[in-house]
Amino acid sequence: MKIGIGSDHAGFEMKESLKAYLSSLGMEVVDFGCQSAVSTDYPDIGYPLAKAVASSEVDKGILICGTGIGMSIVANKVPGVRAALAGNAHVAKLSREHNNANVLVLGARVIGLDEAKEITRVFLDTQFAGGRHARRVDKITMGEAGREEV
Ligand code: RB5
Repeated sequence: MKIGIGSDHAGFEMKESLKAYLSSLGMEVVDFGCQSAVSTDYPDIGYPLAKAVASSEVDKGILICGTGIGMSIVANKVPGVRAALAGNAHVAKLSREHNNANVLVLGARVIGLDEAKEITRVFLDTQFAGGRHARRVDKITMGEAGREEV
């Protein structure tokens, strides 16, 4: 699986650690930056990664900022992206099963590295459940096209 990963300065250290972890799991990793702990604006990283997920340049994305909120807001503005801010493995699992999330967002100032690794592993290991959840995800896609039906 080809994984895009990106962070701002607040998530830089966690990104570097997760890159090594992803490689140890046999994943191909594409780094969207940033490349140091120097202050960086999260949209500059979040938009390119989200667009790469939407265009299938990468299979899934991982975005990290301080809280995870800024990156979530950015990623979810890109049509085709379903970004999930997960603070534990249970939420990460459900974001895949129920929402078919294709971007995992982590808050580096909220969770520790061990939790982040576990959340990442569960996110990447879990499949979309389909069924009634597919109907709901389809409605998100229709909404992106301005064709929401309520
Ligand atoms: C950077 O200080 C911080 O605002 C950013 O990492 C993120 O938490 C924004 O949502």
